[in-house]
Amino acid sequence: MSRIAYVNGFYRNMRDACVNIEDRGYQFSDGVYEVCEIRDGRLVDMARHMARLQRSLSELRIAMPMPLTSLAVVMHEVVRRNRVHYGIVYLQITRGVARRDHAFPAKPVQPSVVVTARSLNLAKNQDTAAKGIKVITVPENRWPRVDIKSVSLLPNVLAKQAARDEGAYEAWYVDPDGYVTEGASSNAWIVTDQGSVVTRSAESGILSGITRAVLMDVLAALQIKLEERPFTAAEARQAAEAFVTSASQIVMPVVAIDNQRIGKGEPGPISLRLREEFHRFSAFS
Ligand code: PDD
Repeated sequence: MSRIAYVNGFYRNMRDACVNIEDRGYQFSDGVYEVCEIRDGRLVDMARHMARLQRSLSELRIAMPMPLTSLAVVMHEVVRRNRVHYGIVYLQITRGVARRDHAFPAKPVQPSVVVTARSLNLAKNQDTAAKGIKVITVPENRWPRVDIKSVSLLPNVLAKQAARDEGAYEAWYVDPDGYVTEGASSNAWIVTDQGSVVTRSAESGILSGITRAVLMDVLAALQIKLEERPFTAAEARQAAEAFVTSASQIVMPVVAIDNQRIGKGEPGPISLRLREEFHRFSAFS
């Protein structure tokens, strides 16, 4: 079955789907994106993703290209046409097409919209979670506006590749004061010896993850203590447990940081429980 993408008003075969070479997303990374999980053919926590999308767009002064309800229809339609039962839907909106000039186009142009969806292997993901992943730490080298979910991801690409080169799956950024900010494509968490779950506040240095926000609801419901505070890479390496969160991985246990074993070197009970319980607290649409 050929894959279908939505591009600026049309559903196209992936091989025919294309954007203009003067799209500002292509030339300047002048755009934003969202990734939502698909479970049982439904979109997970769509309302929260759409709220973050609106915020990212408004921070960059890019117009919302269509009403949110229409965007939701398109996203569901792309999922349906690709027959994705479990996987992700990707939405990208850029400032649009204009003659190359760094400043915004003098006359506003129509923002470009691309939506794709693809299946992921649930059994494989579960298997990865059962084993846990390895993380390396890398110096924070991104711009300060990481709260905007921009498609400008070159430092993230390089950090992720550095992880792969060392046989790890994710890279955690460490700021000049030694504190972990977040992963190249996920939020970072640790569990203390006392069983508190710790993650950095979304006030600075991180993307306010939707999975992170939902997980906070899970923690409250399960009466697990949450500490929203910075933690150092040294504290993380000594933690009882560690895990990452993102729409595509939900709660993914971390078993080693910089080749140092976390806890017993296997996924911790709190991480696994949070992964297990997560979707009881998600909204499906
Ligand atoms: N990444 N931090 C960064 C830098 C991210 O790229 C992501 C998500 C997150 C977690 O956000 P959320 O829980 O809303 O997915 C945190 C997506 C999945 C990606 O780039 O593919």
